[in-house]
Amino acid sequence: MQYWTECRQFYRQFRQQYHTTGSILPSSRGLARAMTRPLRQAKAPRRILEIGPGTGAITAEIVRQLRPGDQFDIVEINADFVAFLNTRFAEEADFRKRRSQSRIMHCPLQEVPGEKMYDFLISGLPLNNFSLELVDDIYKSYERLLKPGGTLTCFEYVWVRAIKMPFVRGKDRERLTQLTHYLEVKFRRYQIGQEIVVLNVPPAVARHLRFG
Ligand SMILES: C[S@@+](CC[C@H](N)C(=O)[O-])C[C@H]1O[C@@H](n2cnc3c(N)ncnc32)[C@H](O)[C@@H]1O
Repeated sequence: MQYWTECRQFYRQFRQQYHTTGSILPSSRGLARAMTRPLRQAKAPRRILEIGPGTGAITAEIVRQLRPGDQFDIVEINADFVAFLNTRFAEEADFRKRRSQSRIMHCPLQEVPGEKMYDFLISGLPLNNFSLELVDDIYKSYERLLKPGGTLTCFEYVWVRAIKMPFVRGKDRERLTQLTHYLEVKFRRYQIGQEIVVLNVPPAVARHLRFG
């Protein structure tokens, strides 16, 4: 995949669906490597769910890590991103090789059925754009879908809430304050590791969480 084709598609979706897309550019290879670190350290067979793949920057790293016996599910809310990813699975060698082990679901994460199914959740969701109620629903879905002992990896841009805070007023400021508190509690309770990735626009932190 031509990097610029990916960027163009991502930027188009950023303009049309700002709220759910959440960033201007796809993640860098460095961030994709950080997001897949727990996966690289575990033996097959593994069941993996990627949440919010966008144009597939992290998906490309996951398919390279897949081994025979692994099952890879992907959930994406945006139909244009789903179409883009289907093309990658049809046309790119690394993706084509793993097509029979992979499945794309076009729906929000909250509608993925099942309980305690996945060893790894790898999430690109832009939680800082969402209401507290939606973030709480998303965390409930993470906890429902992850097997005991499984790992959730998510990312956000470094200091993103602190940087935004002086520029927001009224209801959005209240939302961001509540969200900061909510997420800090989750990170304090469940985070088992983190990695700052400077080579990303903007720099990001990948967090690894385990729920009990
Ligand atoms: C910040 S982008 C991340 C894209 C990609 N993972 C990356 O790192 O380049 C967020 C992605 O989450 C998707 N998304 C947002 N809300 C979602 C939801 N509730 N369920 C599934 N996907 C969602 C968006 O359409 C978008 O593809």
